[in-house]
Amino acid sequence: MRMVVLGLGYLGATHAACMAELGHEVLGVEIDPAKRDSLAAGEVPFYEPGLPDLLSKHIRSGNLQVTDSYADAADFADVFFIAVGTPQKKGEYGADLQYVDSVIEELVPQLTRNSIILGKSTVPVGTTNRLTERAAELAKDIGVEIAWNPEFLREGYAVRDTLEPDRLVVGAFPGGQAEAIARDIYASAIERGTPFLVTDPSSAELVKTSANAFLATKISFINAIAEVCDAAGADVRAVADAIGFDTRIGRKFLNAGLGFGGGCLPKDIRAFMARAGELGAAEALSFLREVDNVNMRRRTRMVELTRKACGGSLLGVRIGVLGAAFKPESDDVRDSPALNVAGQVQLQGASVTVYDPKAMANSRLLYPTLDYATTAIGACESADVVIVATEWNEFVSLDPFRVGDVVRQKRVIDGRMCLPEAAWKAAGWEYWT
Ligand code: UDX
Repeated sequence: MRMVVLGLGYLGATHAACMAELGHEVLGVEIDPAKRDSLAAGEVPFYEPGLPDLLSKHIRSGNLQVTDSYADAADFADVFFIAVGTPQKKGEYGADLQYVDSVIEELVPQLTRNSIILGKSTVPVGTTNRLTERAAELAKDIGVEIAWNPEFLREGYAVRDTLEPDRLVVGAFPGGQAEAIARDIYASAIERGTPFLVTDPSSAELVKTSANAFLATKISFINAIAEVCDAAGADVRAVADAIGFDTRIGRKFLNAGLGFGGGCLPKDIRAFMARAGELGAAEALSFLREVDNVNMRRRTRMVELTRKACGGSLLGVRIGVLGAAFKPESDDVRDSPALNVAGQVQLQGASVTVYDPKAMANSRLLYPTLDYATTAIGACESADVVIVATEWNEFVSLDPFRVGDVVRQKRVIDGRMCLPEAAWKAAGWEYWT
């Protein structure tokens, strides 16, 4: 099938390459010239395992083309995916829908045939209804059907999550073509038995925001328990392991530590609260404010722990921070707990050197005043405290004796509870978590 993907960021570039892999003919639209040129040359402008091979393969095969032209897009196909960003509004909790809105404003007037628009971006409930009304005003003697088909991909596993999703959800108005088109597009996954759920548009929008709110709640739940464990002298890892065996609870997303960050969970729970407020249901989601609070407290707690490990003051001490990405297998530093802690520790007088296997360029752009090393050992050179802030395998498997040779003081803060504690202690380290 011929299709257009509008917006080629983490979500859109992955979706476009994966649709080409499924045998579709895809045209991607990206208005940022640097991103577009890089993708057109077969190069992924961010780190996502497996994506570079897929992208270059399909740019070469011609199954995937890239443009900045909405006119070309309108000409190319009758099926369009919206994959643009929906960031948090500046100074407000709500989602900024300007990029989604401008897709409709630009695309729809240029359509000359009946078309289907499938939204993948995370949007507040009610967006499909609103966009459908606007599209009807903009369309010139043609039918434009809008449905929502949320994406659940995790960075680091984006290709697998797109090609082999847990479930497919299509939120469509009755009587339209969207369900049939989606069944065609995802035929191979449906044949393999992937659950395919058809709902009304508002429910599909809510599936995505509810899933992310649940995941965020699970992480903050275990971090709240970690606070109680701290006070009681108990071990939150043991608690998580034991409760995780209950299949109703499950062990996944119960890793306590620095908490969640990234381009999705923090802004999605805030946008969800804002939307519930607009709908007069603010009270229903008031617990998400606490989820956010618990999560942000993890960062301040880590700064306090660092100060404590340094004997009460951060002035003039050297801190090595291992990790800058919001999670391993990603170069994404949006709302990264690791960089947030590194920045706060520096602001309070410490000299901070950061190392991350993939996120160095993005970190330098966001936090130009931090020092950066080119290796983990380099970041730990003469450190009074080493903080592990992202659980990359490279850090988990560090030799504590080797790191011990370069630091000034053997004090490690395991911000992600990922290090082999006994091995570090046996190598003479003070271990904090
Ligand atoms: C998330 C959702 O998982 C995905 O389904 C959705 O489509 C987009 O948002 P992603 O942002 O890639 O995906 O990250 P995720 O793997 O969910 O991790 C989010 C954050 O939670 C990271 O900062 C991670 O370090 C943290 N986390 C995760 C924990 O602190 N503890 C855990 O147990 C799990």
